[in-house]
Amino acid sequence: MSDAISAPRAQACPLSEGDREDRYKKSGGQPLLEFGEEPNPYAGYVQTPALLALQTPRTGAAGEPSFLIMTQVMELLFKLVYTEAKLVRDHLEADRLSEALWTLRRTHQAMGVLAGTWDVLASLSPAEYNEFRDDLGEGSGFQSPMYRQLEFILGNKSKSMLRPHQGEPSAHDNLARTLAEPSIYDAAVRFLSRREFPIPDYCVERDWAEPRARDDEIIQVWRMIYDDPARHHELHRLAEALVDLAYLFGRWRFSHLLTVERIIGGRVGTGGTSGVGWLRKAADHRFFDELWTVRSVG
Ligand code: HEM
Repeated sequence: MSDAISAPRAQACPLSEGDREDRYKKSGGQPLLEFGEEPNPYAGYVQTPALLALQTPRTGAAGEPSFLIMTQVMELLFKLVYTEAKLVRDHLEADRLSEALWTLRRTHQAMGVLAGTWDVLASLSPAEYNEFRDDLGEGSGFQSPMYRQLEFILGNKSKSMLRPHQGEPSAHDNLARTLAEPSIYDAAVRFLSRREFPIPDYCVERDWAEPRARDDEIIQVWRMIYDDPARHHELHRLAEALVDLAYLFGRWRFSHLLTVERIIGGRVGTGGTSGVGWLRKAADHRFFDELWTVRSVG
């Protein structure tokens, strides 16, 4: 599994603005239709032959293409949101606050699309889902490598969550690396420390693979920022942009929960949990907990 967007590939046949103008004149404004024996340039860029060969349902059930394709769409969107969040983390670590805020804008849009993907699956009836559920065996989204990668970069760290990936060394290595690095929130806190806010040392350097408990001193720092948003304009924007991201992630979790409740009711999950009860607890988790807590600390 590749955890990030791969290094750029050489462009098959680059075109300059001048080349495009010439082509336009030759084609008389009609779309280009002839590309010889090669896959056309769109197929070459998007890699449609490989991409569109990946939808291989296990049954002939009418609802399974929706389930499989939407699952693959979500996996790609996990990858996109992870990629953007990692970039935000790297900008913050390098003191590029404006760039971090700009990238968060795009991250929110991708996360919003992800949160909206449940509408398709929510239209599956229990009977339609049951037609292919047995064929999923013990498979569950809980085992998704990109979802876990995203949880780790956002700060929900857990060493035990590496275990389902032991059989896939590249996924395991990527996850282990992200687990051991500062999350986007750790980077925000370290950034505040470099801006001379009183951040405790144990939040600036620590074992990043360990989850960190809610910290009153950090909450007090956010309180200073929320108390005077005009003075701390950009930091206040950063805080609220992080909350936007956590809010959208919460919407993804709630919509998953509602969709699952609608489809399987009180049945147990394919991945071994109680199902809806377990998901309800998972939906209680908030990324950047201190930013939620600061709202009620006066
Ligand atoms: C529509 C049918 C679906 C049902 C009935 C369902 C059900 C469940 C259940 C019961 C769990 C808890 C673990 C378990 O026992 O399996 C779970 C976890 C999870 N599911 Fe789904 N799910 C569905 C679709 C999806 C899709 C399409 C995705 C996208 C990849 C997904 C992603 C996840 C993730 C990431 C978790 C783990 C969440 C966490 O660790 O907090 N699920 N799902």
